[in-house]
Amino acid sequence: MGYIIAVAGKGGTGKTTIASLLVLWLKLQKKGSILAVDADPNSTFAQILGVEENESIGQIIEDIAKNPDLVPGGMSKDHFIEYRIQENLSETEGFDFLAMGRPEGPGCYCYANNVLRGIVKKLVSNYNFIIIDNEAGMEHLSRRTTRSANCLLLISDYSLMGIRSAKQIKGLIKDLDIQIKRYGLVINRVLRQNHQELVKEINDFGADFIEYIPEDQNLLELSIKGLPLTKLNQNSPLLTAVENLGRKLWQ
Ligand SMILES: Nc1ncnc2c1ncn2[C@@H]1O[C@H](COP(=O)(O)OP(=O)(O)OP(=O)(O)O)[C@@H](O)[C@H]1O
Ligand SMILES: [Mg+2]
Repeated sequence: MGYIIAVAGKGGTGKTTIASLLVLWLKLQKKGSILAVDADPNSTFAQILGVEENESIGQIIEDIAKNPDLVPGGMSKDHFIEYRIQENLSETEGFDFLAMGRPEGPGCYCYANNVLRGIVKKLVSNYNFIIIDNEAGMEHLSRRTTRSANCLLLISDYSLMGIRSAKQIKGLIKDLDIQIKRYGLVINRVLRQNHQELVKEINDFGADFIEYIPEDQNLLELSIKGLPLTKLNQNSPLLTAVENLGRKLWQ
């Protein structure tokens, strides 16, 4: 069984950045096979990781809905969708990538979500590590894209509101009975630590571990140019913090 890490948090706090840095760190560590999953319909994971995306689950579902004749005789539609998804995994050197995408048409992403959930469940046994980048907020939790994970990383900015918002997400998970073994609180874009107002809130959070990620000028420059994280300066303070986070995750 693979080790599932899900990343969640308020919009723009750094979920995709941290999920990507963990994928790249794991790849360097050569700890085992990795699947990166983009569960955000408004996705940027592939771009930030610097991988070329193949067809997303949304596109595959749409394609088959429009062309039902594609399904070979004797095969169920669900089976064919699954087969196409497996075939379309973006395989890069060091990790594979799968995106939920944005299914078109009216209504919700429920069907794509269900397919994603089903496929993740199956793929879990094929990979050592599965890293899921979620969309912002809490709605995906209500839709229960993530039903269980070995670790949920709650990303917050360095603010009281941010930490309280991450705590709300944690509360909702308990209410929804989603199975999470460990909670990590990741406070991102930290300029200076030890503000008394935040220390209490952080201590009361109930995280199994906490990591502080500094604000990083090199990253800012990359995002201005739209470059992937693989181009990050190797002396970036961000990389030391991610290494610490990785060690806490798997210690
Ligand atoms: N530690 C950091 N230092 C500097 N810039 C950062 C840091 N972390 C994230 N950023 C920048 O903040 C922006 C938002 O980051 P990111 O896209 O990872 O957030 P997100 O939580 O995935 O957003 P969304 O909710 O839209 O999915 C990006 O431009 C990213 O480069
Ligand atoms: Mg994101």
